[in-house]
Amino acid sequence: MQHHSIKGFRASFLDAIADPFYVSEADCIRYFPDGLLIVENGKVKDLGNYQDLQAKYVDLPITEYRDRLIVSGFIDTHIHFPQTEMIASYGEQLLEWLSTYTFPTERKFADRNYALEIASIFLNELLRNGTTTALVFTAVFPQSTDAFFEEAQRRNLRMIAGKVMMDRNAPEFLRDTALSSYLETKQLIEKWHKCDRLLYAVTPRFALTSTPEQLTNISKLLQEYPDVYLHTHLSENVKEVEAVVAEFPESDGYLDVYDRAGLVTERSVFAHGVQLTDREFTRLSEAKSAIAFCPTSNLFLGSGLFKLEKAKSSETPVKVGLGTDVGAGTSFSILKTASAAYQVAQLRSQKLSAFQALFLATLGGARALCLEDKLGNFEIGKEADFVVLNLHSTPIMALRNQSSEAIAPTLAEISDQLFATIIMGDDRAISATYIMGELAHEA
Ligand code: GUN
Ligand code: ZN
Repeated sequence: MQHHSIKGFRASFLDAIADPFYVSEADCIRYFPDGLLIVENGKVKDLGNYQDLQAKYVDLPITEYRDRLIVSGFIDTHIHFPQTEMIASYGEQLLEWLSTYTFPTERKFADRNYALEIASIFLNELLRNGTTTALVFTAVFPQSTDAFFEEAQRRNLRMIAGKVMMDRNAPEFLRDTALSSYLETKQLIEKWHKCDRLLYAVTPRFALTSTPEQLTNISKLLQEYPDVYLHTHLSENVKEVEAVVAEFPESDGYLDVYDRAGLVTERSVFAHGVQLTDREFTRLSEAKSAIAFCPTSNLFLGSGLFKLEKAKSSETPVKVGLGTDVGAGTSFSILKTASAAYQVAQLRSQKLSAFQALFLATLGGARALCLEDKLGNFEIGKEADFVVLNLHSTPIMALRNQSSEAIAPTLAEISDQLFATIIMGDDRAISATYIMGELAHEA
């Protein structure tokens, strides 16, 4: 057990405390150009202007990042750890990409030691990119899930993951059964859910790879363990949607396959949703389910342009987070993912402001994962997972983000510089990553 610890960080701080898709930015965003963050036992104790707070916390050890911007840790709401090594695999769209590249790669994760090795590389890469929490697919082998959780636990990370469940339409070497997937998942939930900072997500790969019997058992698990998550893929690619409708002729569309099985809940996170109909958006809104918007993946696999403005409409609001979806996604960086999200919005004649992107990367992701009581900004009592950003990490970014002072003095100026950092930034913009107030990565 850790001893009592209290310390401070002096830097610029920026966070989102409400949703800028619905509330004016001035009421959503807090900015302290010269701020002081106090962390006590890994949680936020205080945040304010340095000059206002300093007298209250004399004699505290203070870490200074005077020309840096500190934001809440990035949240990746959809990623596959066994696909780390197959990122950027050439030429195919979803279904062929799965059979050509993904399934043979995931087969390797039957080997526990191999899974441990890749889990370690994967988590280090997330931290290098400022991602402190993720919702993660492991492989079909329970030992791959154990390996992931062990590595995450060692780093004291708040991670959500689950064993992939798939009992048809996949090579034999990757198939479980309705019964074995139920029993193995149950065992993993008992072992890992709420163990330290870890949480479990029941993880059917997608509708095509589950029999109705497996879907029934998944629904049973959600009833037996009401606070675990449901994490799967939904309506990513046109051919995929056609195949699902053919496989489940009695269903009224793709989402309805999950809905009839009782899998569309407040704790459900659906990756992609590129091909959703208006009726399906309405249903997701009603059910308070979340979508992981994965723009680099949707561009790389040619899946299409997600209708963010539809998900974030006032009529049928749906919770949205950003997902890298590595290995179909092309980067671990949530900055690069937000940049792609902006470009997808532009292709739909929409905009995505810097503060909206920051929201999706932090508090929006926390809300999508039902973790807004613990993560997403610097509200008092939340877990102190945060990122130290360098807005001058390349010569051109230093030129672009010049300012009258060491750090932008106004909200308008930091908005402009954050936008440029999102559009041009990558892992080089991450100076350091802190987990529960402890240094976990330093560039
Ligand atoms: N649909 C089913 N499995 C997958 C996967 O591994 N990646 C993506 N992007 N979509 C999927
Ligand atoms: Zn995926």
